[in-house]
Amino acid sequence: MLFSLIGIGVFTYGVIFTLLSLLSDCDLQLLFYEKFGKSPRRLKGKVVFITGASSGIGEHIAYALAKCGVRLVLAARRNEELQRVKRNCIDSSKGLLEDRDVLVIQMDVTDTASHRKHFQHAVLHFGRVDILVNNAGRSQRAMWATTEMSVDRQLFDLNVFGVVSLTRVALEHFDKVGCGHVAVVSSLAGILPVPYSGTYTASKHAIHKYNGSVQPSDKRMTAERCGYLSAVALANKTSESWIAVFPLISFTYIAVYFPIVFNIALRLLGPETLFKLRDSKDLDEMTEYGSISRSTTVGFQ
Ligand SMILES: NC(=O)c1ccc[n+]([C@@H]2O[C@H](COP(=O)([O-])OP(=O)(O)OC[C@H]3O[C@@H](n4cnc5c(N)ncnc54)[C@H](OP(=O)(O)O)[C@@H]3O)[C@@H](O)[C@H]2O)c1
Repeated sequence: MLFSLIGIGVFTYGVIFTLLSLLSDCDLQLLFYEKFGKSPRRLKGKVVFITGASSGIGEHIAYALAKCGVRLVLAARRNEELQRVKRNCIDSSKGLLEDRDVLVIQMDVTDTASHRKHFQHAVLHFGRVDILVNNAGRSQRAMWATTEMSVDRQLFDLNVFGVVSLTRVALEHFDKVGCGHVAVVSSLAGILPVPYSGTYTASKHAIHKYNGSVQPSDKRMTAERCGYLSAVALANKTSESWIAVFPLISFTYIAVYFPIVFNIALRLLGPETLFKLRDSKDLDEMTEYGSISRSTTVGFQ
């Protein structure tokens, strides 16, 4: 009788787990927090420094937080875009934020020598920074064998060393004030192997180990949804959260918990099929062999 009950329990757990991971656009912990955890509204009044806030996911994390009255530091290279995002943040906050509550900092994350100066600017302006969101990053579509070394260097400078350097500067500040929170927008490419993105995958794996717009034909998550789920993850201080559309969350669970099954599936599906899951283009439409492309879609990069 006891064994039957345990068996039914395990079976029911397996069915619910599988169904939820198939239907959800994030991992199950984040799904739980979205429904029952702390709302991002709890972050009201905090100061959040977001890199790569001029477009994509960083822009939408900024909007999700602005709606909750979170004070923002928007950092990236394109000043005009940052000013546009700042105006939208103030508008979407519906009176919770004023001009001085959103600070724009024009900075190149690969210029690590300037990190201290920029971070101090934010600290002087607000009196403190509570959360650093390392979001700035670039993706890549290329054949690994013919990728130029300069591309490897550029991607690592931005996706890895920029994050490491700015985080160290932030940690000094958090140490002084006694608290703080660092988040990194990485990628499922930091967990799974991703075809035709060798350098990008390696840069995101490196970050893991260290511790756009949607086209009509894309079945991808919007940056808005990704920004909102990221805000939920920040409010609940998750150590790691996965955000992606079907079937990538289930794939990730299989890869992490059943690597042998995943490797067999990988062989059966082949790299071309996996490539299509993350990209609406076919491989033979790729024009940027060995170059870095700015990503405009949200999903599995
Ligand atoms: N989109 C996806 O499907 C997806 C999936 C998984 C993970 N991610 C990750 O999410 C993060 C954001 O990607 P996204 O898709 O939102 O890309 P995006 O729309 O291209 O935005 C990238 C942001 O990074 C900034 N940036 C790029 N190079 C920079 C530099 N040298 N210094 C400072 N800022 C720089 C860009 O601003 P400026 O050009 O103004 O500097 C822009 O604000 C990346 O880390 C990416 O790897 C994205």
